[in-house]
Amino acid sequence: MSKRTIVTLPGDGIGRAVLDETLRVLEAAGFEADYIEGDIGWEFWKKEGNPLPERTIKLIEEHKIALFGAITSKPKDAAAEELDESLRDKGLVYSSPIVGLRQHFNLDICMRPCHTYKGNPLNFIRRGADGGVEEPEVDVVIFRQNTEGLYGGVEWSNPPEKVYEALMTHPKFVKNFGKTPKEEISVSTRIFTKKATERILRAAFNHAKEYGYKSVTVCEKPNVIRETSGMMYKMAQEIQKAGFPEIELWNTNIDAQMMWLTKNPEDYGVIVAGNMFGDIVSDGFAGLIGGLGFACSAQFNPDSGIGVFEPTHGSAPKYADYPVSIVNPIAMIESACMMLDFIDEKPMAAKIRKAVAEVIAEGKVRTYDMMKMRGTPDVVKKGAASTKDMADAIISKL
Ligand code: NAI
Ligand code: MG
Repeated sequence: MSKRTIVTLPGDGIGRAVLDETLRVLEAAGFEADYIEGDIGWEFWKKEGNPLPERTIKLIEEHKIALFGAITSKPKDAAAEELDESLRDKGLVYSSPIVGLRQHFNLDICMRPCHTYKGNPLNFIRRGADGGVEEPEVDVVIFRQNTEGLYGGVEWSNPPEKVYEALMTHPKFVKNFGKTPKEEISVSTRIFTKKATERILRAAFNHAKEYGYKSVTVCEKPNVIRETSGMMYKMAQEIQKAGFPEIELWNTNIDAQMMWLTKNPEDYGVIVAGNMFGDIVSDGFAGLIGGLGFACSAQFNPDSGIGVFEPTHGSAPKYADYPVSIVNPIAMIESACMMLDFIDEKPMAAKIRKAVAEVIAEGKVRTYDMMKMRGTPDVVKKGAASTKDMADAIISKL
């Protein structure tokens, strides 16, 4: 195995704690790499006026693979207030480095798997027909289009004259909004392109095929959002017909899907959606398998081979300064496993996942979230595992 270089992006808050423990787990699994740390996050916004410095972009460009902890983001006004004095009044505006990374590298495929670990006390349970308790086994992978749609940033309040004029050419706009003064109108667009839609659909179908999922579900709202959702579903039908006849294509509406989430989550396999609905449905499924301590993700561009692997959770600032870190590192460790899959180290990823599964099934080592405790600094004294204890337990299984 040739040794590769991985860019580590600890970011803010608990990002470093979960990332450091993850690197120990990778090492214990026999993964050999050089790590080079990239600067990202709030600290660099405050000091340099840029949470995603150019040098970090260069590093990722060069090495292609990054493991990312989490960052802190704050609203516009708070961001301006915390900026170093020498940088104020320069017109610097904070923008999320995560969105920045996605756009710069066109990381348009976001993948969020949600798998039940046996023995996880946070697993969703429901009542069965006989009144008994059932614990459905969730094995879902969500493919979320990561760059377009409602999060594409094309939006206005009191839209410019030309935009307004264009809107006024639409009969429905005239009928529903034509009498409202322009200044009282805010518009956020939902733009889907054929190219990006096809890429996310193909990624979903390819994954279903490679890993033996029987269905791909398009989770949108084509009966109402006819143009964008409608286009995605139509393209999915064409792609399925032409290349994936063995995989069933299902179609759910996002609202109904959230209702069915607790009814039959075990029925779903691969789910594909646009940016916002993908975000929503992946948080929904993550809740069934243990929540933020377990939710992992990958964002990548299959053409360039650039990938950023990160837990879904944020920097949890209130836990960042505890003398002993108490947060669950599993979401970050799982994200590293996705990295290993991506760089064709699948057996190593499987080995780590097995070790994680064994620790959870055994039930002896559990972080505070798994014990349903409030995250106070004394949880370790009360019997919860620290971030390091959990990593140690996983390492001992390796
Ligand atoms: P958060 O995900 O940081 O924390 C929410 C709560 O979830 C925590 O208070 C904690 O109770 C729990 N939690 C999070 N990670 C956990 C872990 N590994 N183990 C156990 N429990 C865990 O979200 P919050 O508080 O809304 O945001 C904090 C900061 O993080 C904000 O500045 C926000 O903008 C940023 N953020 C960054 C993200 C990223 O880097 N991808 C994603 C979400 C939020
Ligand atoms: Mg989210």
